[in-house]
Amino acid sequence: MKKDFLSILDFSKSDIEEVFSITDFLRINRDHKPLLGKSASLIFQKPSLRTRVSFEVGIHELGGHPVFLSQESIGIGEREKAKDVARLLSRYTSVIIARLFNHSTLLELAEHATVPVVNALTDLSHPCQVLADAYTLKKHGKLGDNAKIAFIGDGNNIVNSWLEFATLFPIQFVLAAPRGYYPDARIHKKAKESGIGSVEIVKDPKEAARQADVLYTDVWVSMGQEKEAKIRRKAFKGYQVNEKLMSLANSDCVVMHCLPAHRGEEITEDVMEGTHSIIFEEAENRLHVQKAILAKVLGFKLDGRSSVFAKLSRTRVS
Ligand code: CP
Ligand code: NVA
Repeated sequence: MKKDFLSILDFSKSDIEEVFSITDFLRINRDHKPLLGKSASLIFQKPSLRTRVSFEVGIHELGGHPVFLSQESIGIGEREKAKDVARLLSRYTSVIIARLFNHSTLLELAEHATVPVVNALTDLSHPCQVLADAYTLKKHGKLGDNAKIAFIGDGNNIVNSWLEFATLFPIQFVLAAPRGYYPDARIHKKAKESGIGSVEIVKDPKEAARQADVLYTDVWVSMGQEKEAKIRRKAFKGYQVNEKLMSLANSDCVVMHCLPAHRGEEITEDVMEGTHSIIFEEAENRLHVQKAILAKVLGFKLDGRSSVFAKLSRTRVS
């Protein structure tokens, strides 16, 4: 059966640990080309800098060929139904990576594709981002049991993926958001009921930031919400990651942002450029982690588990 990565919960905890091991392996062993002779479809309905470039470069580094398909060129759901796009691209390429407005379109693609489908962001979630974030935190020793991750701002697609992560890993995730800007209720409930991580929503950013190991924020107006910009900017006033808020967190806390950032809105210039910021390392890790995600969904495994010198070998021909 093909392996999709539509949400964090398509992976188990051990799958994620394996993805992190493959990431470490591929960072050292740059000559491995598991995608040699293969092509990958990249469907983008929304703008992108990091996701598009990190996937295109990553596929190239793995020996594969990326095929970029904009909404203007293929008109998914307009020129052609998603299910037909899925069946067609499955006959040309070995994996479909898609950034879409509606998560339901991603599910339709995955249902009809015979090759793995990877979520490159939808209105509901952004699992590639959160896996890269978690890998970055692990490298900084900030992903231990009960690590406190305070997310300041909108309960959006990034937050939903973090809640799913808390369903598998024992982190302490606290969202500070104004009422009306909460994450997906079903995902939140599932994370709460998992009993693995602890998840909490508070109104006061100060309460979330207190003794946090990680301060995380994202834009107040996500792609597709431009018409709500004025009302959102008003609602999120006070939900800014700034020096004052950071003074409440642990003295060795790190600051994260998935980018793009709006300096002066959700984060100040000085915090973004300050010594606690690991924002650009976080962005770089999109490349490394996504290469491992691709290797994983395409059925590659590390021989000899933890040995970074083990060879990747094909275990499945789809
Ligand atoms: N963080 C992120 O996904 O960035 P892009 O929207 O530029 O791809
Ligand atoms: N919440 C943002 C994330 C961008 C990477 C958006 O969906 O626009």
